[in-house]
Amino acid sequence: MAQKILVTGGTGYIGSHTVVELQNAGHEVVIIDNLSNSNIGVLDGIEAIAGKRPVFVEGDCTDEATLRKLFEENPGIEGIINFAASKAVGESVQKPLLYYRNNLNTLINLLELMPEFGVKGIVFSSSCTVYGEPDKNPIDETAPIKPATSPYGNTKQISEEIITDYVHSGAPVKSIILRYFNPIGAHPSALIGELPLGVPQNLVPYLTQTAAGIRKELTVFGNDYDTPDGSCIRDFIDVVDLAKAHVIAMKRMLDNKDTDAIEIFNLGTGCGRSVLELIESFERSTGVKVPHKIGPRREGDIEKIWAEPTKANTVLGWKAEAPLDETMRNAWRWQEKLAKN
Ligand code: WQD
Repeated sequence: MAQKILVTGGTGYIGSHTVVELQNAGHEVVIIDNLSNSNIGVLDGIEAIAGKRPVFVEGDCTDEATLRKLFEENPGIEGIINFAASKAVGESVQKPLLYYRNNLNTLINLLELMPEFGVKGIVFSSSCTVYGEPDKNPIDETAPIKPATSPYGNTKQISEEIITDYVHSGAPVKSIILRYFNPIGAHPSALIGELPLGVPQNLVPYLTQTAAGIRKELTVFGNDYDTPDGSCIRDFIDVVDLAKAHVIAMKRMLDNKDTDAIEIFNLGTGCGRSVLELIESFERSTGVKVPHKIGPRREGDIEKIWAEPTKANTVLGWKAEAPLDETMRNAWRWQEKLAKN
C-alpha cells in the first residue's frame, strides 16, 4: 500500500538511494535534511531516476518546532525512516557532545511527535558497530552488544535502547531497527552516490578518489591482522540493495498487523571480504589501478565482522543481490561523473 513517508537525512548517501526506492514503490516522500553533510542537488538526481521530486524541507531535526511544523504542513505521514545523524567515527571522538545532541535529540523529537500526528512506525538506521569486535563470525541479531568503541557507536546503541524503552512504555508506535554492515557503491545511473565532504574516512570513496588521481595513494590500514591476507574483513553491501531493504521493512511495519512492535535485522551480504580483496575487485572490474601501500593499523578498527543475514532473508524476504564487481563498477562510474561535474 502506498503511504506518505518522512525520510530524515534524505539527501544523504543511504537516504537518497532509499528515497528513490520508496518512490519507485509508489510511496509519497517528504525529506527533511539540514544539508550539513549533503547538498540540495541530490534532489535533481532523485527526480531524474524516479521521475518524481520528493517534498523537501530544509531543517534540523534537533529542533522540535521545526519537526512539529513539518508534520502540521505535511499531514498523513504514516512512517518515518530516520537517517539524520552524524556518522564519522573519528569525528565523534573529537566532538562527542555534537554527536550525542544531534543523534539522540533527533530521535527523541521524532518519537515524541509520532503519536500526536498519527505516525505508526519508525525504521531506524543502526549499525553493526553495536556489536564491537564479534566473538565469532558471521554475526546474527542475537550476538551480544559490546561496549561502544566510539561516541558514534554509542549513539547507535543508546538510540536502540531509547526506541525499545519508548515502545515498551506503551507508546502507540512500532519500530524496525536495521543494523547495516558496510554500505558501498552508487546508483547504476550514476545520478546519485556518496558525496564525502573533505578527505573521505571510509574505504570506498577514498579508493575511488585515488583511482581518479584525486588522492595520491590509498593506505591499507594494516596487513598483520589474523585474516587470510592480513587485512581487515568487512561485509560490504551495495547501497541499492540496502535501500530496497528499507522499503520492505516499511511495508512490513505498516501493513503487517501481527508483527512484533520492535524487530531488529542485520543487513549484510553474509560474505566477508578483506580490504585487499576489495581493491582487487575494483581493479578487476574497472580495469583501473589503485595505487596503494600497507600502512599502520587504524586505531579502533574491528579486525573482522560479517553478517549472518538469514533473518532478513527469511523474515523480511530481502537478500543482498548485487555482485561486488558490479558495485565497484557503479562506484567508479559515480566517481567519473563527479570528476566531470
Ligand atoms: C573499512 C575498512 C579500514 C579507509 C565505519 C563505521 C560504520 C559505518 C561505516 C557509517 C577498515 C579500511 C579504510 C582507508 C583502509 N559508519 N580502510 N584505508 O570503519 O568498517 O565502518 O564506516 O555509516 O558504522 O564503523 O568503514 O570504510 O572506514 O573502513 O584500509 O583509507 O577499510 O581499516 O578495515 P568501517 P571504513
